[in-house]
Amino acid sequence: MLVGVVGAGTMGAGIAQVFAQADGYTVKLADINLEFATKGRDRQLAGLDKQVAKGKLSQEERDAIAADLILSEVKDLGDCDLVVEAVLETMAIKRPLFEQLDAVVKEGAILASNTSSLSITEIAKGLTHDVVGMHFFNPAPVMKLVEVIAGQNTKPETVEAVTEIAKALGKTPVRVEEAAGFVVNRLLVPMINEGVEVLGAGTASAEDIDEAMKLGANHPIGPLALGDLIGLDVCLAIMEVLLSETGDPKYRPAPLLKKYVRAGWLGRKTGRGFFTYA
Ligand code: CAA
Repeated sequence: MLVGVVGAGTMGAGIAQVFAQADGYTVKLADINLEFATKGRDRQLAGLDKQVAKGKLSQEERDAIAADLILSEVKDLGDCDLVVEAVLETMAIKRPLFEQLDAVVKEGAILASNTSSLSITEIAKGLTHDVVGMHFFNPAPVMKLVEVIAGQNTKPETVEAVTEIAKALGKTPVRVEEAAGFVVNRLLVPMINEGVEVLGAGTASAEDIDEAMKLGANHPIGPLALGDLIGLDVCLAIMEVLLSETGDPKYRPAPLLKKYVRAGWLGRKTGRGFFTYA
């Protein structure tokens, strides 16, 4: 199956790797230009090279994944059977992209969004192709879950097809009704936001908040390190969607989270968030 992935950031490039390493899938990775797509692919291949160096992947396996990961542009995704969008988390960027994809892809192709909280129904509005949510988790090659989200007009056979594709990728799909934040982000991101509130209140240091949640709640990493991994801009965008969709003030973004995002401290991807990264 030929799959297009649009967006070569952390999630998009990770999703492209997931498809490229599964049997029977070839991926075309696109971004706003070839330079961005190339950077995303090269970052992913550098990660695979580390796995080869550690003896966790053979050189042949790495080369086979690289061969199935082709650089492309959105206008050239017409032959794809499925296109997964993983661009920035704003409707103002996603909508025009989906309109472009709707015009480019062949009849019967499925359009999927990796949105972490936005409405699939709104993304799909007025399009001729069927749209479904296919939500992966960071790091995409490691995390087992895929939330499969149906919008108001998504056909049941599209949900079924994407569910089967997720299984073929070695993931565990969970069927989710459309709702702000779906399941995981509705629960996880308010917890991260609360961690930022605790930090802002001076209750404990960033290190101690994370240590406490690792040792006291058995989380693999603490909430602040997790925010840094997801991207603090993404966490803020999700809190804003939860707040605007529900009107419930319990989803108010932590002032310190807003301050960090305004400062460009977005977490791992900018080298600085609640912690610093080389
Ligand atoms: N790409 C590929 N593999 C990676 C990776 C990456 N970016 N990061 C880690 N790995 C692999 C490592 O190679 C390692 O593999 P082996 O066991 O084969 O050696 C394995 O994952 C464990 O990695 P590490 O030993 O380096 O570190 P760790 O044990 O702390 O695990 C982690 C790293 C898997 C990220 C772990 O910390 C974890 O599970 N954290 C929580 C992640 C999480 O909750 N993600 C969901 C975020 S929410 C989201 O993504 C949704 C959204 O819309 C915002």
